[in-house]
Amino acid sequence: MKKRMIAALMVFCMILTFTACGSNSKDVNAGSTPAAKAPTDTSKSKDLITVGFSQVGAESDWRTVNTESMKSTFSEANGYELIFDDAQQKQENQIAAIRNFIQQEVDYIVLAPVTETGWDTVLQEAKDAGIPVIIVDRMVNVSDDSLYTAWVGSNFELEGKKAAAWLDAYLKAAGKDKDEVNIVDIQGTIGASAQIGRTKGLEDAVKQHSSWKLLAKTTGEFTQAKGQEVMESLLKQYGDKIDVVYCENDNEAFGAIDAIEAAGYKVGVDGDMIVMSFDSTNAGLSDTLNGKITLNTECNPLHGPRVEEIIKDLQSGKTVDKQKYVEEGIFSFENSVPSIKIDGVDYPVTQVTKDLAAQRAY
Ligand code: AHR
Repeated sequence: MKKRMIAALMVFCMILTFTACGSNSKDVNAGSTPAAKAPTDTSKSKDLITVGFSQVGAESDWRTVNTESMKSTFSEANGYELIFDDAQQKQENQIAAIRNFIQQEVDYIVLAPVTETGWDTVLQEAKDAGIPVIIVDRMVNVSDDSLYTAWVGSNFELEGKKAAAWLDAYLKAAGKDKDEVNIVDIQGTIGASAQIGRTKGLEDAVKQHSSWKLLAKTTGEFTQAKGQEVMESLLKQYGDKIDVVYCENDNEAFGAIDAIEAAGYKVGVDGDMIVMSFDSTNAGLSDTLNGKITLNTECNPLHGPRVEEIIKDLQSGKTVDKQKYVEEGIFSFENSVPSIKIDGVDYPVTQVTKDLAAQRAY
């Protein structure tokens, strides 16, 4: 009887051990704070490719879709073991996650960096460990390009240039190009490529237009709450002097619109000020359709399959592009500007229709 109990206890312990080691997809944040992260198990299924993905956070709708794209691509059914880490917009969490991935001897590290600088040391550690690093979405600014294998993401400066070129053409079409135009820029996370490029696109255009005035630029951290908070204080300071609210993503635009309406102003082409935005998410395009956002410049979040293509090529020994930009559109509420030209290239501007907004997959 005693023997049977001991045997049963041993079987129970074996099941526990097996269960703990048997999962092929892990979220290292699930149920723990980043500081309390324990190293996840080091066992690797022979036939699965292990990918450690350090994600910026969950600051925006765009980011949620991007995370989903990565998780659904790097699934066990597709042949991967994904170790996902949400850095909650903090670079130190991303650095800790990368070190954790190195310890676990993953096959690939994928990094969506919160900001551009500060990566040299940890990427050197990954290189020394012989683990290829793929950068996705935003860029890293490193002293040695060999610290990462490939990058895929958006041309954020081009996005900013597109938005500014549209504003120029829109004002011309409306016969307002000689009027003074007062702009406020609700920037993204300071130091992120998406902020740097979009702010630069606007600032360069302001320098070229003597009638454009950048009243203020301040960060909304790519979140709806901060976008609203920042807009509230801009309205207190400038009121209806503001003509254009240049929001560096859709969630900031949603927050800014709430603040503008709560203050008793009207957004849109026939209102007190127009709102411009980036991302063109489903909700962003709905607000473009209803005229609350007058221009929405696309930033595509569906990077999972793009990163997978790079990994597949590397697996089969192919050379991959060091940097690859994705193609992105421009969506507007109205149709006075059918296209814009930047550096000799024409970019169509699509007027948002009900069908287009309804069919938006993300
Ligand atoms: O880096 C891409 C940007 O980050 C998107 O515009 C924004 O919504 C996200 O948070």
